Amino acid sequence: SRLAAHQSELLKWFDTSKHVRGMPWRKEYDPSLSDDDRAQRAYEVWVSEIMLQQTQVATVIPYYNRWMERFPTMKDLAEADQEDANSIWKGLGYYRRAKLLMEGTKKVVEEFGGKFPKDAKIAWKEVPGVGRYTAGAITSIAYSTKAAAIDGNVQRLLSRLLAIHTNLKSKQAEDVLWSAAEDLVKRVDGPGDWNQALIELGSTVCKPRDPNCGGCPLKTACAAWLETQNVSHSSEQGQ
Ligand code: ADE
Repeated sequence: SRLAAHQSELLKWFDTSKHVRGMPWRKEYDPSLSDDDRAQRAYEVWVSEIMLQQTQVATVIPYYNRWMERFPTMKDLAEADQEDANSIWKGLGYYRRAKLLMEGTKKVVEEFGGKFPKDAKIAWKEVPGVGRYTAGAITSIAYSTKAAAIDGNVQRLLSRLLAIHTNLKSKQAEDVLWSAAEDLVKRVDGPGDWNQALIELGSTVCKPRDPNCGGCPLKTACAAWLETQNVSHSSEQGQ
């Protein structure tokens, strides 16, 4: 596809912009990490992804830091009191997220020996509170698993890039987007960076209203952008 030929442009863009918004859960992927260190990375990414589900990055950062101070490992959280966790979560809202995060860590500690599954599909099916997006985000970032991760921002971005005009809530659109995203992530060496680049582009450039197409590294590969170019070309004829 046209998009597949432009993946390196998005990765380059992410490489130069990812440090602009400092996030404590973001670390360079390190292939030399031990299995235990990698499981720790999975926990860090897991906490961040659950907090980011309904809350902005800037709000999440201090909560994330306090959470990791109080529950530094998956085991600390699995053994904690719900009340204790709630007191740290207080202010983030949607307490159900904290409850599911605790249930999830309990399951991973008790049934997976403290190792978050590397296979996104297993994580998605087996770990409470971990959906398809979260499973893809955690496994790609912590383990470099080639799994797709489509949240609301990436859904909007991909639907524009591919000019998908069907109802985005339909099963048909969902299938098309996930299979396109799975195809794309299989082509890159760093799936964690690729998924985070899509998230970042979707949330900072390809915004719901007034997308910043001028600042988009993928505009020449974007079907929605090309459609607007064709419109202005035909209206400029004769000038
Ligand atoms: N929102 C959800 N996941 C994110 C991530 N890894 N980086 C930035 N924003 C996010």
